[in-house]
Amino acid sequence: MKGIILAGGYGTRLYPLTKYISKQLLPIYDKPMIYYPLSILMQSNIKDVLIITNPEFINIYKDLLNDGSHLGMNIEYKIQHEPKGIAEAFILGEKFIGDDNVCLILGDNLFYGNNIDELLSRCLRNLQNNFCTIIGYEVDDPERFGVVEFDDNQEVLSIEEKPKKPKSNYAVTGLYFYTNDVIDFSKKLTPSNRGELEITDINNIYVEENKMLIEMMDSKSYKWLDSGTFKALHESSDFIMKTQFINKKQIALLDEIALLNGFIDKDRLKRNLPNLSEDLQEYLITNYLKS
Ligand code: TTP
Repeated sequence: MKGIILAGGYGTRLYPLTKYISKQLLPIYDKPMIYYPLSILMQSNIKDVLIITNPEFINIYKDLLNDGSHLGMNIEYKIQHEPKGIAEAFILGEKFIGDDNVCLILGDNLFYGNNIDELLSRCLRNLQNNFCTIIGYEVDDPERFGVVEFDDNQEVLSIEEKPKKPKSNYAVTGLYFYTNDVIDFSKKLTPSNRGELEITDINNIYVEENKMLIEMMDSKSYKWLDSGTFKALHESSDFIMKTQFINKKQIALLDEIALLNGFIDKDRLKRNLPNLSEDLQEYLITNYLKS
């Protein structure tokens, strides 16, 4: 199983910040944005991750995450020269994916929920049965997203990209679990009117082949945030700060997840400490390193 984080794009809604820094490196409270999608891949037990980003920022990502070995992972990098669409990830990542299934997550998407591990396990199980999974989330403004149309049995009938008249309030989030067929499907696509290889077109191929399942994240138990605007960026930071404070637990602390997943041992965790703030060091020592 492979994981891809798509962390390119221009981030025009966040200009001038994203003129000089990649959006997915901006802070969401106390961690870089990309830690949040990376933590979701780690919670899906994925150790092999490809980060796709723009040429001008790739070395900053490499400085931040290196080859991933400090987390017991293998992290690779690939340039996307222009944002030609989310589905281009599978063309750029073809060699990296090889014969495996692949989970794609957008670098600005943040998911949180107490039962998220169970949801991720279900997505992985669906893949074993040869079904891909998209994640639906109820929103007030579906016109901005890929929107799911359901049949009478609540199965996916189609997905429409940014419809003027949405057929439901369920948006398709930026977390997708695909079978290896996705590479072939992405090669068959032609660019849309806006000049992009659309992920919605990939999803509709899976729907047509009856190989698409949807997992719902109800907004009472889960939070889905993207940080594409200044308001959303602020709200995401606020959410993380408050949730961590109330629960006295860290969100997307990669070193902690690596330890809990058995990717690294306590000795490696100790060696990682100097790269973290004093507060985070203290948290890890108190919870895991005091015998
Ligand atoms: P968007 O938010 O649609 O685009 P953007 O990040 O460039 O922002 P803006 O609209 O403000 O210009 O992209 C969603 C995510 O997907 C984001 O993390 C960037 C990523 N992405 C790519 O990496 N490559 C692409 O070709 C596209 C379309 C998106």
